[in-house]
Amino acid sequence: MSGESSPTTLAQQLTEAGCLAEPWRDTFTQVDRKRFIPDRIWIHGEGGYHPVNRTTDPDRWNALVYDDQALVTQVEDDSDTATALVPSSSASMPRVVATMLDALAVDDGMTVLEVGTGTGYNAALLAARLGDQYVVSVEMDPRLADTARERLKDAGYAPTVITGDGAEGCPARAPYDRVIATCALHTVPYALVEQTTPGGVIVLPWGTGLYNGVLLRLTAGEDGTASGPFIGDSAFMWSRNEAPERDVMATVRKQDRPRATATTARTSLDPRDVFGDENAAFTAGVLVPDCRCTVGHGPDGEFTVWLADHATGSWTSVDYVPDATEFDTHQHGPRRLWSEVETAYEWWQSACSPDRTRYGLTVTPTGQYVWLDTPGAPLP
Ligand SMILES: C[S@@+](CC[C@H](N)C(=O)[O-])C[C@H]1O[C@@H](n2cnc3c(N)ncnc32)[C@H](O)[C@@H]1O
Repeated sequence: MSGESSPTTLAQQLTEAGCLAEPWRDTFTQVDRKRFIPDRIWIHGEGGYHPVNRTTDPDRWNALVYDDQALVTQVEDDSDTATALVPSSSASMPRVVATMLDALAVDDGMTVLEVGTGTGYNAALLAARLGDQYVVSVEMDPRLADTARERLKDAGYAPTVITGDGAEGCPARAPYDRVIATCALHTVPYALVEQTTPGGVIVLPWGTGLYNGVLLRLTAGEDGTASGPFIGDSAFMWSRNEAPERDVMATVRKQDRPRATATTARTSLDPRDVFGDENAAFTAGVLVPDCRCTVGHGPDGEFTVWLADHATGSWTSVDYVPDATEFDTHQHGPRRLWSEVETAYEWWQSACSPDRTRYGLTVTPTGQYVWLDTPGAPLP
């Protein structure tokens, strides 16, 4: 980070890293990220997110704004504390912004719907490239929407910013040639497909309770469906109406003496083989739906993986011990979550351990399904 940071140095940094496609270079140089960033930002560090204030630390704030970093711009927990744990809005990492815009493949005259205005920076990039009248952005948090509108106006851009749930899109301005979400989704809202022109493209971060996440690029069909592959990795904060239950242990603690009442067994599946392998973890997330995971670390390399399905109250623990070949499991509730993970892992291995980019998703009016290699056949 240098004292001479500017939109130009940021664009250069992204170009040198191979992350900024040629059609977007001028736009990234032209739109000043600084104009969209609040005076207090939060940077991830030990124990959570730590504030950096423009007034008290202007050089650091300035350098961060033009660095290739995600900047948390709002936190849910008390923002006067020195450490925050739960971010609720951010300016995404510039290389991720650039990658998603490249995947969107916009062209002159195209209309774009964005879900998740946040700071307004991405909306400004789209407006600068395509023209204000071609861009609609929806933000669920009224305060953020208002601030983004003001910042966009001050910076000289005027895309339409709607306060509302982006899952509903913006039917009044539909159809759109392109749709981009900048919050993670699991269930792709059908409204977004319905509001996309046939042949149009939808780019969104997608995830499961066990893996957040991947970048999905759908193409809308003539038949009212949309289909396409996962094209890379992309971890975003969840859409506010989709965030999985955060506190896995809350499900476990609902019971008195949880482990004493659970079914115990031993497993030969090393939890590191599933959760230490991104492709296995992605597959488990697809095949074991509505399941969340957390890890508690013990002494000498021991750890426990906890899985929970909040809705059914089912939970599982697996105790990892270094050098062991079998591990204790405790399972409780109508779902046997570890058994489901074992089945998912076996399926993934039997399919020759596919990479997550070999999967894709199809959205129909009645639901969605994940497929491997070619659209058409849902996974087992
Ligand atoms: C990572 S930030 C977006 C970054 C933004 N595109 C930018 O350029 O700064 C995610 C945003 O999505 C918003 N959001 C979450 N769920 C939403 C929903 N269902 N509809 C609209 N906005 C949503 C959050 O309030 C947050 O501001």
